[in-house]
Amino acid sequence: MSTIARTLSLCVVWVSVVSGLSLRVQAADQQTQGTLREAGKSFFEIGVGINDRIADRAADHRLLLSQFSMVTPENCMKPAQVQPAEGKWNLAHADGFVDFATKNGLKVVGHCLVWAKDGRTPAWFHRDGEKPASRELLLDRMRRHIQTKVTRYRGRIAMWDVVNEALDDGGEYLRDSGWSRACGEEFIVKAFEYAHAADPNVLLIYNDYNNELPGKREKQIRLVRSLTEKKTPIHAVGLQGHYEIDRVPFKDIEDTIVSMRQLGVKVVISELDIDVIPRGKWWAEGGKYREELSRLDPYREGCPPEVLKRQADQYAQLFQIFRRHSDTIARVSFWNLHDGQSWLNDFPWKRVNHPLLFDRQGNPKPAFAAVMSALNQLPQP
Ligand code: GLA
Repeated sequence: MSTIARTLSLCVVWVSVVSGLSLRVQAADQQTQGTLREAGKSFFEIGVGINDRIADRAADHRLLLSQFSMVTPENCMKPAQVQPAEGKWNLAHADGFVDFATKNGLKVVGHCLVWAKDGRTPAWFHRDGEKPASRELLLDRMRRHIQTKVTRYRGRIAMWDVVNEALDDGGEYLRDSGWSRACGEEFIVKAFEYAHAADPNVLLIYNDYNNELPGKREKQIRLVRSLTEKKTPIHAVGLQGHYEIDRVPFKDIEDTIVSMRQLGVKVVISELDIDVIPRGKWWAEGGKYREELSRLDPYREGCPPEVLKRQADQYAQLFQIFRRHSDTIARVSFWNLHDGQSWLNDFPWKRVNHPLLFDRQGNPKPAFAAVMSALNQLPQP
């Protein structure tokens, strides 16, 4: 090669290295400068579950309003908070929440009308003096509860979680509860009918955890099929999405989204987080590991960069799946605004956790850039 040719080819290499670098810098800028709600716009709503008293929490407003388009109140619309005793309505916090959201251009997810767990339903629902409430009485109480909440916020709530967590984790179809004992599947059918009658324009969701995993997924399919055969107005299934690092069931999630589309319902990812401290053993072998786990707090002083990187990669993989199926997915909501507010700092034992896209100061973590790249179809950082 002549000297001139060698110099020229060196120049070409140099120029392409430099322009490659500047492209990468540009991509990184776009990832950190954009916002989730903008990047998600053409795919689905990006939501978040937040503290009921959001209006008083000025420190949260900038992050919330810049990044998210939908909000779910963590607790104030749950049956136990709204109607702790029969006819004793407690809607002040829910009213404040909906007012704040409406004024600030955020859409609201109502959560939830029925929580099909005895521990989460005020006991009075299921009692009639000394005896268990009859099916008729229970359904009548449920109708009044649903009608009151849905009517009050008609036009201001975009989606309702109608029934939460009714599928059994073991061998049964439905979880054993006052609801399933009195009515079988019928309470689910009725809950959707009552909600639809109170607001025919709201998107109605059945919400659960682990319902993408084999076993529970078959029950989820059975439920949706049975409801649609009965012409029940169910519009979407919520996958809560409380995942653990290195155990995110990517294929099961994708298969479930496809199954739901085939059944004619939408999917929402309703409570997404990726726990960096695996917790599965908590429930294993009759609680044998609980003592040991309750002392486990490995990331008290901060989460190591390699763990944050793995978490970021796994979030990216999830959002690639969500983007591929954006025709079926109506919303992806995180559960809590930033790491410092995550329920996983306390559940199932106390530890310093790092499951979300923003750190305790509200600054974006590597997972944020990874999700932004997945949404923007850019190479992963
Ligand atoms: C479930 C419920 C939520 C919330 C989380 C934990 O997933 O649906 O309302 O209670 O648990 O905070």
